[in-house]
Amino acid sequence: MKLKIYPDYAQMSDAAADAIIMVVKEKSNAVICLPTGNTPTLTYELLVRKSNDLGIDFSKVILIGLDEWLGISATTVGSCNHFFNEHLIKHLNFSRKNIYLFDGLTNDPEADCHKINLFIETAGGIDLMVVGIGMNGHIGFNEPGASFDEHAHVTRLHAITIEVGQKYFNTEVKLEKGITLGLRNLLESRNVIMLANGRAKAAIIRQTLEQETSTLLPSTIMQLHDNSALYIDEEAASLLTE
Ligand code: GLP
Repeated sequence: MKLKIYPDYAQMSDAAADAIIMVVKEKSNAVICLPTGNTPTLTYELLVRKSNDLGIDFSKVILIGLDEWLGISATTVGSCNHFFNEHLIKHLNFSRKNIYLFDGLTNDPEADCHKINLFIETAGGIDLMVVGIGMNGHIGFNEPGASFDEHAHVTRLHAITIEVGQKYFNTEVKLEKGITLGLRNLLESRNVIMLANGRAKAAIIRQTLEQETSTLLPSTIMQLHDNSALYIDEEAASLLTE
């Protein structure tokens, strides 16, 4: 795992946007899996700006959404679908048929998981997976205790995730379950980038890097991947001792 520490959030985001662009430039039909959340918003703003300036073509790129809140509609502000539409999809020339986002209102989440697993396999695997990190070390909705051996699946949300998750919504919502790519998907991706910024993430970043790999702290899975990189700013790095 590579560790890249940037002076601030803007420079971390700039590097992340460049990394995504590089993958798309190298492979026009790249399969990229992206996260939502506050962390990647500037990355996406820069990705959109740079891609439009450079004329990067996303028409063949396959976009996979990392996760979604179950029970929340795609049009609800705060849903991952809404986020992807607002921050990425409407600004870049993706083809609708190449976009796979989990449906929070699906009647059959298990079937959806099966579909996405098959879709990824048929597309030849994920070239680049970008993830954030939850305050409890979760990745996507792989909460503490999640198996490293699962593909897309439904999860019961951890109390911290439910509490923190309210920040994305305008009104109080009932958050109980999520649908997410699994940690096995992460291990099988050709490249993985984890993003974290700000002082609030410093403690969990320290644990991620300095604790032994354990399913109790899903983010430690980054240590097991040969082509993984952690992009963090100095604030998120501020508690590192080694
Ligand atoms: C959310 C999402 C994750 C996201 C993480 C961090 O609950 N399920 O995919 O990466 O928590 O979010 P933020 O970037 O807002 O801190």
